[in-house]
Amino acid sequence: MNSENRAAIIPEPGKALEVTTSAVIHPSHGEVLVRNHAIAIQPLDAKMLLAGYGGAGTLQHFPAVLGSSGAGVIEELGQGVTDLDVGDRVVFDTRAYIYGDANRREGTWQQLVVSDAKTVAKIGDVAFEQAVLIDFPLQTAVAALHLFLGAEKPGAGSVDERVLIWGAGGAVGSYATQFAKSVGYTVIVTASPRDVERQKALGASEVIDYKAPDAVDRLRAWGPYKYLFTASGDPKSQQALACLLQPQGGQFASVLGGDVELPSNVQRVYKPFSQAAQRDENSEFREWWYKDYLPKVLQEGLVEPVKYTKKEGGLGSLQQASTEVFEGRVKGKLVLNPQD
Ligand SMILES: NC(=O)c1ccc[n+]([C@@H]2O[C@H](COP(=O)([O-])OP(=O)(O)OC[C@H]3O[C@@H](n4cnc5c(N)ncnc54)[C@H](OP(=O)(O)O)[C@@H]3O)[C@@H](O)[C@H]2O)c1
Repeated sequence: MNSENRAAIIPEPGKALEVTTSAVIHPSHGEVLVRNHAIAIQPLDAKMLLAGYGGAGTLQHFPAVLGSSGAGVIEELGQGVTDLDVGDRVVFDTRAYIYGDANRREGTWQQLVVSDAKTVAKIGDVAFEQAVLIDFPLQTAVAALHLFLGAEKPGAGSVDERVLIWGAGGAVGSYATQFAKSVGYTVIVTASPRDVERQKALGASEVIDYKAPDAVDRLRAWGPYKYLFTASGDPKSQQALACLLQPQGGQFASVLGGDVELPSNVQRVYKPFSQAAQRDENSEFREWWYKDYLPKVLQEGLVEPVKYTKKEGGLGSLQQASTEVFEGRVKGKLVLNPQD
């Protein structure tokens, strides 16, 4: 094993990333050390780096390391880990954005990352890039629909029940469409007109342009909906879902919060869905996700991954790549290998 670890660190709040070398960290009881081969930059990471957004509040100590997902090969086991081995190819999520003091060991924008063994999934021969492209945004969609709204697991739903995914064009939205379809529901989505054929191939029965002036009326004609989710989370989408839920009232899930005024009988469910599995109160979901569902999805190719671009330059390209994601210049995801 190498005795050095390279990491992209934020030296101080608001400063640009620097790539530094430090001593190798070792896993404690119940943890594993993973040599990380793939990072997919999420909007959350880019917003934390460049705008001090949301989870940035968890970066209490500097220098700090961003990233909460990765894929690679297990290099060392902590005591008490029995279901994983050195050499296993895995995808994993960490507590980097959960606890203020966790990111130096568990931030995934580095070559060697410590992870709780409970949030590690074996991926067999699946490419590391494919694994990171799917895990984080799919988990967001499934946590929102299944864990927080109460949708069924795959195969247990009825075609007579309808699900609405607003803003299905992105990673979270595309996976939400596929998950809802796999449960057995009828899925209606909003997306850009250029995305209609892809959305239908992913399982949507109807695709409505989210910019169309009559979008809400057309969606109402396809309802009522048992589960409603905005995967873009913007104010317009939240207002549209609230409007559809009137006059009976009800709830919808949103990837973003904000201060949109909602009718008193409409609730918005806004949570850090992507981090839900890190919480012990969701241990049943966590167990199902990492040890059952995610390995099956990856190894049996059950979802179509979003498009991606490989960024050359490894950790040194993270600052520029984050800027591109932050400015909305990327369709699909940017993926890089911290070992490059
Ligand atoms: N709460 C959580 O746990 C959580 C977890 C993950 C992500 N998020 C948030 O969810 C959002 C989406 O993440 P992502 O990974 O799916 O991003 P992404 O893959 O970059 O998705 C971007 C796509 O979303 C669509 N879109 C953008 N603005 C839209 C709008 N106003 N209305 C409808 N569709 C719109 C666009 O598709 P078209 O080009 O086809 O229009 C765009 O290409 C981000 O803001 C992210 O921070 C939250």
